[in-house]
Amino acid sequence: MPDRHRQKKSKYTADRSIPGSFEGETVTRRRLMNLAANGAGAVAAAAFTLPALGFAIAPIFKRQAWEWQPVGHPADFTQALYETKVITITPGIGEAGNTIAYIRARNPSIDTEPEDQYNHWVALSSRCMHLGCPVRYVPAAQRFICPCHGGVYDFRGMVAGGPPVRPLDRFYTRLNSTTGLVEVGPRYSVNSELERFSPRFPGEPIDGIGQFLYPAQFDTAARP
Ligand code: FES
Repeated sequence: MPDRHRQKKSKYTADRSIPGSFEGETVTRRRLMNLAANGAGAVAAAAFTLPALGFAIAPIFKRQAWEWQPVGHPADFTQALYETKVITITPGIGEAGNTIAYIRARNPSIDTEPEDQYNHWVALSSRCMHLGCPVRYVPAAQRFICPCHGGVYDFRGMVAGGPPVRPLDRFYTRLNSTTGLVEVGPRYSVNSELERFSPRFPGEPIDGIGQFLYPAQFDTAARP
């Protein structure tokens, strides 16, 4: 007895006795209409979603420009004291885009990281590297204290106690030769050797394997 299940079906609709079929036709009209309707639906959905998706995702990959803002004359800053300066880190959103930077002149006897044109003044971020609370500089103790969970940083912004995972972030600084003013540029992160890294979020250690586990954000300004 022939195995009917193994008989190969003809690809022609006429051979399969489909009502209304034409000779040489391989796709039924019902199937053709289904494909056309689904295709049109997919095109319509893509027309709405792709532009919205691009609008939402594109800024993630857009590199921020380097922006510099004046913070004072060189004589305003000493090696022994931090000056508290309000700087803008996100323009266009008013006071919500401001933050505090603690700035002093570089002191070669304690600032042992390599000197270049961007660190004649040391500008520390006030954002705690545990969870991001604002730290406060206490001149009498020469410490930065975080009120949230007891994080403590020494005079150079290195972790001296508590849960912070890395030293305080820093800002590039420079002297504007035209205006004669000290300027603060983009933020960068440092590891426990004070080596520079693209800015990371609080809570992201960048010593050892941490720098790979917590990669730089796509919108980070290109380094000089
Ligand atoms: S946020 Fe500063 S110690 Fe937790």
